[in-house]
Amino acid sequence: MRNIVILTGAGISAESGIETFRADTGLWAQHRVEDVATPEGFEHDPAKVVAFYNGRRADAAQAEPNAAHKALARLEREFAGDVLLVTQNVDDLHERGGSRNLIHMHGALNSALCGACDHRWPAPLQMHVAESCPRCAAPRARPDIVWFGEMPYEMDRIFAELSQADLFVAIGTSGNVYPAAGFVAEAARAGAATLEINLEPSAVGSQFAKALMGPATQTVPAWVDSVLTDA
Ligand code: APR
Repeated sequence: MRNIVILTGAGISAESGIETFRADTGLWAQHRVEDVATPEGFEHDPAKVVAFYNGRRADAAQAEPNAAHKALARLEREFAGDVLLVTQNVDDLHERGGSRNLIHMHGALNSALCGACDHRWPAPLQMHVAESCPRCAAPRARPDIVWFGEMPYEMDRIFAELSQADLFVAIGTSGNVYPAAGFVAEAARAGAATLEINLEPSAVGSQFAKALMGPATQTVPAWVDSVLTDA
């Protein structure tokens, strides 16, 4: 086995105290997606959207990487082949846990984006509405988050890596949002083995050949140990 592609979702950060989206008390139970996670919502009420992401940025800054984040970083360091980590999460716990070969396909809380010239820069802990872009000076700064209806980042690279994967693992994602929920079908079509690690089967759980159920801080380190032992 040479190439492992891992997809993570909110569940890998849950035990670090960061709320997931679709739990009964999750973010989408507290906020309307259309108000805070769409371009239309941002156009309609930028202050509400900026405040929503300021809150999530503050929560992420308070959180610490957990044993699952650290285990994936260990896998990347010690595995003889390639490990690509694609995360739907916008927190920086994978980076702070030591992962390097990482794609934030839904953007990142710590990045700001200019709505006029696409320039990106490190976001301050608290962004303000109509902040001006450091490059083009337009008052169009926005959170560098991929909202519903927008194209996730680095899709070409992700699909190229899936086509070469020997193993695809999805960790802590409910399989409700595409294109990420379609990665398992893509990987299986390319002949990869597939493994889902979650508390319970996801919406696409039946498409995985294997499953490991339990909290990520227990299942992910155990799985990484098994891969490094068998390698
Ligand atoms: N260990 C493992 N899995 C967990 C844990 C845990 N401790 N806690 C929760 N989970 C799992 C849940 O069972 C669920 O499958 O994490 C998943 C969380 O699902 P969602 O809240 O839907 O989060 P996610 O799948 O990442 O959402 C995908 O939707 O709203 C958009 O852009 C947003 O990136 C997000 C995308």
